[in-house]
Amino acid sequence: MARQSTLTDAPFALREGVVSMRPFTRRDAASADYLRWMNDPQVTRTIGRFDYLLPVSRTKLKQYFEDIDADTTVFLAILAPTTRGGLPRFVGTLKIYDLDPLARRASLGIMVGERKAWGRGIATASIRAACRYVFEVLGFGKVTAGYLSTNGGMHQAFRRNGFRTEGVLRKQVFFAGKLVDHVMVCKFANGKQRA
Ligand SMILES: CC(C)(COP(=O)(O)OP(=O)(O)OC[C@H]1O[C@@H](n2cnc3c(N)ncnc32)[C@H](O)[C@@H]1OP(=O)(O)O)[C@@H](O)C(=O)NCCC(=O)NCCS
Repeated sequence: MARQSTLTDAPFALREGVVSMRPFTRRDAASADYLRWMNDPQVTRTIGRFDYLLPVSRTKLKQYFEDIDADTTVFLAILAPTTRGGLPRFVGTLKIYDLDPLARRASLGIMVGERKAWGRGIATASIRAACRYVFEVLGFGKVTAGYLSTNGGMHQAFRRNGFRTEGVLRKQVFFAGKLVDHVMVCKFANGKQRA
């Protein structure tokens, strides 16, 4: 049974403006929204997982959740309004993974699955809240992430949060009929580009 990270046993919520995040639950894994997003090629084509380009079953999604390594991962549901002044609803996921307490480092992955919520600053705010959590609550010193070089939204959201490129894996991922670069970015707690 999936559980939250041993580093973060207590239930919690992170907030940044109108965006909040709380632990992803088994109910989220079985939800119609999550199933719809994970079967929407516009959403899944940039996550770098070729197995999610095929139809994905609810069973596979539930198993993905159950298989999460709770010692190294904090998997969060993103809640935000999809219209101006609307009520917050489940719109995506943010994963803080590869938690490494010795190196004091973690990685981030994000998906805003609800397409009508795109372009409202949700990814930017979620990344900001996640960084604050990693730096201020966990006390880590570095956050890393990666995205396809063709993913303009991710590029901007990480730049806006002070991430800088630390490497490019050239022609690393097959995307839209060709091989594209995978950009590795990072941010340090001290705001400098070194530990
Ligand atoms: C990429 C993604 C996370 C962006 O989420 P979002 O909530 O729409 O992002 P934001 O609204 O915070 O936008 C961030 C910036 O990127 C810009 N942007 C958004 N989509 C863009 C695009 N397709 N091309 C260029 N810039 C884009 C925004 O204008 C904004 O720039 P600004 O701060 O200068 O105004 C979302 O589209 C998504 O989840 N896509 C599918 C899954 C995915 O690619 N996940 C990331 C895998 S690494």
